[in-house]
Amino acid sequence: MCGIVGYVGSPEENQNYYALDVVLEGLRRLEYRGYDSAGVAVVDGDGITYAKKAGKVAALESELAKGVFPQSKVGIGHTRWATHGGPSDVNAHPHVVDHGRLAVVHNGIIENFAELKHELSALGYNFVSDTDTEVAATLLGHIYNEVQDLTEAMRQAANRLEGAFTLLAIHPEQPDRIVAARRNSPLVIGLGEKENFLGSDVSGFIEFTKKAVEMPNDHLVVLTADSYEIRDFAGNPATGKEFEVAWDAAAAEKGGYASFMEKEINDQPAAVRDTLLGRLNEKGKLTLDELRIDESLLRSIDKIIVVACGTAAYAGQVARYAIEHWCRIPTEVELAHEFRYRDPIITEKTLVVALSQSGETMDTIMAVRHAREQGAKVIAICNTIGSTIPRESDACLYTYAGPEIAVASTKAFLAQITAAYLLGLYLAQLRGNKFADEVQLILDELRAMPEKIASLLERSEEIAQLGRDMKDASSVLFLGRHVGFPVALEGALKLKEIAYLHAEGFAAGELKHGPIALVEEGQPVFVIVPSPRGRNSLHAKVVSTIQEIRARGAVTIVIAEEGDTAVEAYANHIIRIPQTPTLLQPLVATVPLQIFACAVAGAKGYDIDQPRNLAKSVTVE
Ligand code: F6R
Repeated sequence: MCGIVGYVGSPEENQNYYALDVVLEGLRRLEYRGYDSAGVAVVDGDGITYAKKAGKVAALESELAKGVFPQSKVGIGHTRWATHGGPSDVNAHPHVVDHGRLAVVHNGIIENFAELKHELSALGYNFVSDTDTEVAATLLGHIYNEVQDLTEAMRQAANRLEGAFTLLAIHPEQPDRIVAARRNSPLVIGLGEKENFLGSDVSGFIEFTKKAVEMPNDHLVVLTADSYEIRDFAGNPATGKEFEVAWDAAAAEKGGYASFMEKEINDQPAAVRDTLLGRLNEKGKLTLDELRIDESLLRSIDKIIVVACGTAAYAGQVARYAIEHWCRIPTEVELAHEFRYRDPIITEKTLVVALSQSGETMDTIMAVRHAREQGAKVIAICNTIGSTIPRESDACLYTYAGPEIAVASTKAFLAQITAAYLLGLYLAQLRGNKFADEVQLILDELRAMPEKIASLLERSEEIAQLGRDMKDASSVLFLGRHVGFPVALEGALKLKEIAYLHAEGFAAGELKHGPIALVEEGQPVFVIVPSPRGRNSLHAKVVSTIQEIRARGAVTIVIAEEGDTAVEAYANHIIRIPQTPTLLQPLVATVPLQIFACAVAGAKGYDIDQPRNLAKSVTVE
């Protein structure tokens, strides 16, 4: 939700670029976080020059192309996912106040903005936009005029604001700096040579530096070309953890694919492989060094609760089957936004596993905080190093899917399942439910998955053609059982998100309890069929389901293992997936559903990477 960039270069240095170039580059890369409007502001002599425009960064660039923008070395930028006030030019950031001298960009929601607006209006301030940001900027400007120092003004303002915010501010009276504050919204510092950066995440400056600093929560930073100074909101000096970004700018490019989503679908063999890498010691024992939680404590765990949202929650649902099966620990999966409101039973023996690609999903952050307040240990499974969820958890098992830019999650889902399976196997090994040789066998199967996924990707065109042929369907249903059920939910979510097509996933066994009434002549239904080699009863039952819906006129698209002949009589279309033990099947069965959704959206002419109304990371509750 909203992308923020800041740049401070040195006027003496001869870099052949300026704040505008750096900010625009960062905004292009952060656009996946929101694309309702974009804007940039730079310090320009004794004033601020700015431009902002509703729509994508490209609209801002067209606007900028109409004039000449100053060659400033200090600037801030913003790409917006609208919360307060619709997507319009006037509501776009930066908000410039204090007679054109103070520019502010903001990510988050100021919860007490109405009260502050009332207070500031009584002092004679007028507001032109509907945003909470303009209120925060006006408050900052008001305090600045009293204290005549941007850092102190930001500190005092931050103490008055409630809710979530990352705020960046520039003022020509202190022209060498950006002052930023963060509470419950992401912000990372990038360190260069005689230049420094700020970004909502590292993609905001990855083109320029891989050296970064985690910005602590409830802190502010004063950024100049050769220094960064962190303080808490009481004004005390503080530090942030420095880290090296593990991927380069090229990893965040489309690499010849028409969309990031297509590229990321094709990244999946590597995402699974890299997530498995280095997690076995020379004796073949699974070692998760990152899990710095006392082993005796992990042995005593009597319940696991997985908290996550959307696709990540479906990954959790898949993992539950494996974790319970391997570890014999009761495992629940809860949508993070429901978690604390249902007053869950948590003790010191509860392990909470927070799944998140971005590490910045506010609902999941709040669930993590609630769990820890109740005494639970929290392990994060996350794709973004240095993000909030790993920082606030007791330990983190990173997924190594690389940057996921398309709004609809694909490779992070497979990587999350892989990491959650590693955690399950590790706990089983530790608690003695599984011996090293059994763990080894499953790991060997897991290690074979990247190749299986790659072989499936070779058939992408055939699946995409099916998508194009079905682009005019008005509704698509997805059925699965056991681990196939969350896969069905994920398949339906992909189609809703990017193809704006009504789609629903059901547990196949539930069909006769109601949803079968939806099936009429021509209704497309995907069915994920479990392996016939494992839980045979389940396979036979799913085949019966296909038979039942086919008899009622459904067009059945069956996802079945190579060699599974039992499905042939009832399938209008068969998508073959490599033979895989049922528990690992989601790592292959999901892929055709992603390709299908991508093809339907493409055939409809929609923006695959930036679907309407959505943003990549949901940093508001
Ligand atoms: C769907 C999708 C979302 C995210 C959800 C959680 O394609 O991307 O449902 O999975 O918003 O996001 P993270 O994993 O960043 O916490």
